[in-house]
Amino acid sequence: MMYDQVFVLFLFCLLFTTSSAESNHKWRSSVTMFNNNDYQETKSSIIFPLFGDVYPNGFFFAEVSIGQPPKPYFLDPDTGSDLTWVQCDAPCVHCTKAPHPYYRPSNDLVPCKDPLCSLLHSDDYKCDDPDQCDYEVEYADGGSSLGVVVKDVLSLYLSTGIQIRTRLTLGCGYDQLPGASYHPLDGVLGLGRGRSSIVSQLHNRAVIQNVIGHCLSARGGGYLFFGDDLYAASQITWTSMSSNDINHYSAVAVEFLFGGKGTGIKNFHVVFDSGSSYTYLNSQTYGILLSLVMKEIEGKPLQEVNDDQTLPFCWKGEEPIRGISDVSKYFKPLTLSFASGWRTESQFQIPPESYLIISSKGSVCMGILNGTAIGLQNLNLIGDISMQDKMVIYDNQKKQIGWVSANCDRLPNSNALFL
Ligand SMILES: *[C@@H]1O[C@H](CO)[C@@H](O)[C@H](O)[C@H]1NC(C)=O
Repeated sequence: MMYDQVFVLFLFCLLFTTSSAESNHKWRSSVTMFNNNDYQETKSSIIFPLFGDVYPNGFFFAEVSIGQPPKPYFLDPDTGSDLTWVQCDAPCVHCTKAPHPYYRPSNDLVPCKDPLCSLLHSDDYKCDDPDQCDYEVEYADGGSSLGVVVKDVLSLYLSTGIQIRTRLTLGCGYDQLPGASYHPLDGVLGLGRGRSSIVSQLHNRAVIQNVIGHCLSARGGGYLFFGDDLYAASQITWTSMSSNDINHYSAVAVEFLFGGKGTGIKNFHVVFDSGSSYTYLNSQTYGILLSLVMKEIEGKPLQEVNDDQTLPFCWKGEEPIRGISDVSKYFKPLTLSFASGWRTESQFQIPPESYLIISSKGSVCMGILNGTAIGLQNLNLIGDISMQDKMVIYDNQKKQIGWVSANCDRLPNSNALFL
């Protein structure tokens, strides 16, 4: 029951294969070719405003302009997968409801032998048609997209306020299946560690460093950036990316603390996943946390209620709870402690406002959920709720993940146009 109610996207890329039954799908386009890039090389960052929130919407999205003339698309920023794709009219075999008209692809097809195409397939993949590159992406929530890979112009905004246009490779998805955590968006903005991501493509052209960051505001919205000049590295708390899980932005947490005290949970992997709105812990860790929270609540003026279908643990107060500040005194902060160097540790603080939700019924609910119950097995996911009001940085060059408290309602030191 809970499975289809959960407002979360775990857009983990499970596999990239191509179904030969679909690959004969030829696609036609009336869009004409146009001349090349006019971007300037600048030491800068690329910025996208973000919209949405953890609750009640349950997802964030970025606006990206694609095509010539540029048209806007709302994409789901997903650090759990690499390929960026938009639902397209190629024509569409099966598309889901989208906020904008389906993308009309350029006729610049990526050939099957293109190195970028081989990144999307296993080594023994055989081209059905040498002139086109088919792709299929499947996500952990059961959703999928199937289509062809094209090149088209993306209009991107630099933090200096300048707009650049550059031709990048992206998927034109003409056959989508919605997953359990489906949201009505135009496509996915793949921000994973792989070389097919648009960030990696921009890095290969020396436009930016292969660094991704986001700042999700607890008041909704925020921003996403590519590049490394919106922060001073010395002011960020860093930990190394795990080298044995190259598909995810994961790191090894040394210890899990509750109210500053040890919980006995040590040395476990956590994945930072912007595609997940809530935080998920494996059954064992979740069970320990839940019993600590329950114990803390004993004797406090909070009574357990079962009034939210997505969130299994909620409490009401003597009066309707209007904001987290009404109840945060009853909850303790959580801390994930990560290794950061010889004998030093980096702490990722999760204050009550980063793991609790005030529901529409005026109760306070746990925004950390049992990942085992929705098939995540042993994975621990740090979702959007716990990354709010922090700048979180994924540095693919130095292979490290960083964070710092931040006001995500405004951009640091920039003349950006939209905030
Ligand atoms: C988490 O979910 C699993 C699978 O449904 C279940 O067996 C386990 O008891 C749950 N853990 C807790 C602490 O609720």
